[in-house]
Amino acid sequence: MAKIFLTGGAGYIGSHTAVELLNEGYEVVVYDNLYNSSKESIKRVEEITGKSLTFYEGDIRDREKLTKILKAEKVDAIIHFAGLKAVGESVRKPLEYYENNVGGSITLLEIMNELEIKNIVFSSSATVYGNPDTVPITESSPKKDCTNPYGWSKSMVEQIMMDAQLANPKLNVILLRYFNPVGAHESGKIGEDPKGIPNNLMPYISQVAIGKLEKLGVFGNDYDTPDGTGVRDYIHVVDLAKGHVRAIKKIMENPGLKIYNLGTGVGYSVLDMVHAFSKACKKELPYEIKPRREGDIATCYADPTLAKEELSWEATKTLEEMCEDTWHWQTMNPNGYNS
Ligand code: NAD
Ligand code: UFG
Repeated sequence: MAKIFLTGGAGYIGSHTAVELLNEGYEVVVYDNLYNSSKESIKRVEEITGKSLTFYEGDIRDREKLTKILKAEKVDAIIHFAGLKAVGESVRKPLEYYENNVGGSITLLEIMNELEIKNIVFSSSATVYGNPDTVPITESSPKKDCTNPYGWSKSMVEQIMMDAQLANPKLNVILLRYFNPVGAHESGKIGEDPKGIPNNLMPYISQVAIGKLEKLGVFGNDYDTPDGTGVRDYIHVVDLAKGHVRAIKKIMENPGLKIYNLGTGVGYSVLDMVHAFSKACKKELPYEIKPRREGDIATCYADPTLAKEELSWEATKTLEEMCEDTWHWQTMNPNGYNS
């Protein structure tokens, strides 16, 4: 079976993808600097699957180390998760974000060229569509201006990968544009473990539910949406992880360049999420309407048809499962991997 190299594979989406790859019989090698994750997630992946994987602590910007490991491991494909992802922080530390996300990706691509590794799947984001003119968003919707350096770093790396593929037709590139990943593995052993106060909605709600945070601030209730709050396409992280397994199958067919939305096609509002989570945790969740958050858009959800047609993939998990699995992970690990 093919050997897959996961940069950033100890993180939230990477660890869930490692589980699905191991379950499908792939060999998995993880390379992560543990900046935003812990080795404990690797241990848990092994517990869940009953299989082992190879872990290296290292930075994608460490050219020497990465080259040495990739030379020795002889991998068939790379899934490139490694990067910084906090939108607000990226506004304060743009150079750090560009250096890690863009610089790190260039180093990785250069090493791939040198070692003739020809398959890469990249973690992109719906953020590259900016404020879309119409929803649902298809892959042919135009890329637009981003509102922060994090978003731009994704947009730039997409362009860099497209140009690298054009210059080297042997290279296969699949850009996966994730919508809003939430949820956790149903075992409750792995999940999202944000450092400090979460920026994203679902981990914030979850920490209100467990009593670590007092109440949720709902960023605006005057958007042009059914209840006035922002609408997003929340996708269960296990569905998302399975999408990566399908992308790996696809990339083995030498597809050249491919771009897929990974979303459910359904949008839920902030208040929909609060109510659904309230059912899962069996508590009222206090919230307060706050001003809009800068850079936010009203509505964003995917047209996931292309992934269904070409990858035979579609999201199957419900909003209920997203909330129940998040709550299960939160209650089993009130302090994340440090519990
Ligand atoms: P995460 O922070 O949990 O995982 C990223 C991993 O990369 C972490 O384990 C971190 O330690 C590692 N890392 C960071 N810089 C590194 C470097 N220079 N060298 C080696 N390892 C490094 O985040 P995630 O939610 O799992 O996201 C994975 C990818 O998906 C990221 O590229 C992110 O931008 C992208 N993405 C995430 C979301 C989301 O909402 N979670 C949405 C769209 C896209
Ligand atoms: N929200 C609140 N209160 C909060 C947090 C969020 O009301 O405390 C609202 C936001 O205003 C938005 C919705 O909840 O309407 C979702 O917000 P998130 O921060 O969870 O997610 P975003 O859609 O803003 O951004 C996410 C990722 C980005 C990624 C983008 C598109 O954080 O990395 O999806 O994929 F680029």
